[in-house]
Amino acid sequence: MNNLTLIRPDDWHIHLRDGAALGTTVAHAAAQFARAIVMPNLAPPVVTAEQALAYRARILGHVPAGAKFEPLMTLYLTDNTPADEILRAKAAGVAALKLYPAGATTHSESGVTAIEKVYPVLEAMQTHDLPLLVHGEVTDPAIDIFDREAVFIERVLAPLIARFPALRVVFEHITTRAAADFVTAAPATVAATLTAHHLLYNRNALLAGGVRPHYYCLPVLKREADRQALLRAATSGSPKFFLGTDSAPHDRARKETACGCAGSYTAHAAIELYAEAFEQAGALDRLEGFASRFGPDFYRLPRNTDRITLVRQSWDIPERYPLADGALVPLRAGARVDWRIQP
Ligand code: NCD
Ligand code: ZN
Repeated sequence: MNNLTLIRPDDWHIHLRDGAALGTTVAHAAAQFARAIVMPNLAPPVVTAEQALAYRARILGHVPAGAKFEPLMTLYLTDNTPADEILRAKAAGVAALKLYPAGATTHSESGVTAIEKVYPVLEAMQTHDLPLLVHGEVTDPAIDIFDREAVFIERVLAPLIARFPALRVVFEHITTRAAADFVTAAPATVAATLTAHHLLYNRNALLAGGVRPHYYCLPVLKREADRQALLRAATSGSPKFFLGTDSAPHDRARKETACGCAGSYTAHAAIELYAEAFEQAGALDRLEGFASRFGPDFYRLPRNTDRITLVRQSWDIPERYPLADGALVPLRAGARVDWRIQP
């Protein structure tokens, strides 16, 4: 197959950042996706509907002329989110709320310190039908970083789903076989996003032959058996698994340093990288469901009506892209990708 036409995909998990960085991130996202669920982990975080609307306007200000791109906004849950913010969020068209366990990842300092603290908010979300997006890792220092997702399932996620059976939950950027199995067996209210990098790489990419900071993201890359399980889930045709890049730009200097930030940038070539992963699994025919149908169905939004065509044509990914007054190193920098979006 040398050509693949798909309903235009959406990205159900992206970090666009703010300010001048939007010039790069929004252009990349809008070149591929019709819509994106925009993560709220700015510094300071987006915690109110009013802040989400203001952030949305800043993003729209960077959509290139002629492009159509709809940012779907999220709020960052804190221990102090008032339950009535849910009504304001609903009225403002906010798409979902994001749970970051405090300390789990980049800009999660204001996150939730104990899940019970947000039960009243989760109750309101269940009533008003706003989905919860979960960064699923425990932060207990006694738990090995490679086990944090699996332990989160037992300690937090399974009890949460049992307590709020009508709450729609997206287990974001899953990285383990345990998570794929859990989502498969969970009720239809539970779905998961999968990144291109977790479908393409295991932890050897990060650690074998030298430490490669641009492959460091959270949750961290896992074993090959986990990657295989993620690939099976993504290509299974199950509507519970859909595309979320978790594209997370950081300035090069903050990645290539003694204590580097977590986050891999994939928005420059996202659908192309997913196509490589699906092709590896012999399942290119399943890419459209994953990239363009199951996400809007879960969020109860219409599917897009326009299409993109991917052609088999290698191109070299640049070493750098500008990012505000610095630069970012994209995933696969200086190397090839096999597919290209037909202009
Ligand atoms: C994200 C970021 O940089 O904002 N980093 C990452 O490694 N994925 C935060 C997140 O989604 O965990
Ligand atoms: Zn993320």
